[in-house]
Amino acid sequence: MKLNLAILPGDGIGPEVVSVALNVVKKVCERFGHSLTYDSALVGACAIDACGDPYPEDTHALCMKADAVLFGAVGDPRFDNNPTSKVRPEQGLLAMRKKLGLYANLRPVETYPSLVGQSPLKEEVVSGADFLCIRELTGGMYFGEKGRKENGTVAYDTCIYSTEEIRRILKLAFEYAMRRQKHLTVVDKANVLESSRLWREVAQSMEKDYPEVKTDYMFVDNAAMQLVRCPKFFDVMVTENTFGDILTDEASVIAGSMGLLASASIGTHTSLFEPIHGSYPQAAGKDIANPLAAVLSAAMMFEYAFNAKEEGALIRRAVAASLEAGIVTEDLAGKGAKAYKTSEVGKWLCDYMGR
Ligand code: IPM
Ligand code: MN
Repeated sequence: MKLNLAILPGDGIGPEVVSVALNVVKKVCERFGHSLTYDSALVGACAIDACGDPYPEDTHALCMKADAVLFGAVGDPRFDNNPTSKVRPEQGLLAMRKKLGLYANLRPVETYPSLVGQSPLKEEVVSGADFLCIRELTGGMYFGEKGRKENGTVAYDTCIYSTEEIRRILKLAFEYAMRRQKHLTVVDKANVLESSRLWREVAQSMEKDYPEVKTDYMFVDNAAMQLVRCPKFFDVMVTENTFGDILTDEASVIAGSMGLLASASIGTHTSLFEPIHGSYPQAAGKDIANPLAAVLSAAMMFEYAFNAKEEGALIRRAVAASLEAGIVTEDLAGKGAKAYKTSEVGKWLCDYMGR
């Protein structure tokens, strides 16, 4: 098989974790005899610094012609602390999602036996939790009309969804539910929001097409509570963009660390694979960031973009083995246990996969 990848390390810890993920991809290709070509490009603050545009045209062109995109993170405190700045690193990510048509973000939440003790939640609550969050990614408040009025003293962001946008993400959610435990939870705020009422209307009209799927509806405030009270309730959860952003950060504590949550963004063009953690600027350049979310994103890339299940499974085995062996970065090392560097974890994973 031939893989042609676009590598977008981005900002902060992005380059460090993507470099580990890329080494893992190289190792897998070597093991399975795949030919790998790749090119890197700028996105985020580094792209603003280089050319003033957080998602430059040549980066987009590279993504369009690649089979898959491996992405790190964007963000820089220089922009966060300046609310008046006209151009922001995050706009690069949003432009990329929109222009590549990445309307679905899949964020699986799994627990590792060796890490259940790490979660701030009780072991019996998290142990065995295994679900898939599907977040709509190109609609809602993120992309609706926004602005200021009354001389800048009033601001608004509009949550807007069309039937078609809702239908395509729900279709995907029903299909994933069919492949899993056939339980779909649609999360909304239909008691208050009109856009949520449309979501619910569309979901209810689709239920008959998936008679085997048990579909239930949950208000987002209740979902936020159930996630930490009883995460094992969930199999597939689907929700709109902003709710999904918030709930998946919350869900990351179930796995023990945000440094473990991978994601796939899929849609109409090239799919993109990225860790859900951000650019974590305080750790940039220190070789301490957890590379596992990026590595697991690479596993998702093999599985989702190339339908290469064994390749994905090899990466997952290596990750599980590193956790068992305690070869972990400081976010996961228990009290008094040795913490390994990002690059050391990466090297261990590649050695393991070469065995
Ligand atoms: C994420 C991030 C992004 C989002 C930011 C960086 C724009 O938090 O991927 O979850 O809000 O979607
Ligand atoms: Mn987020």
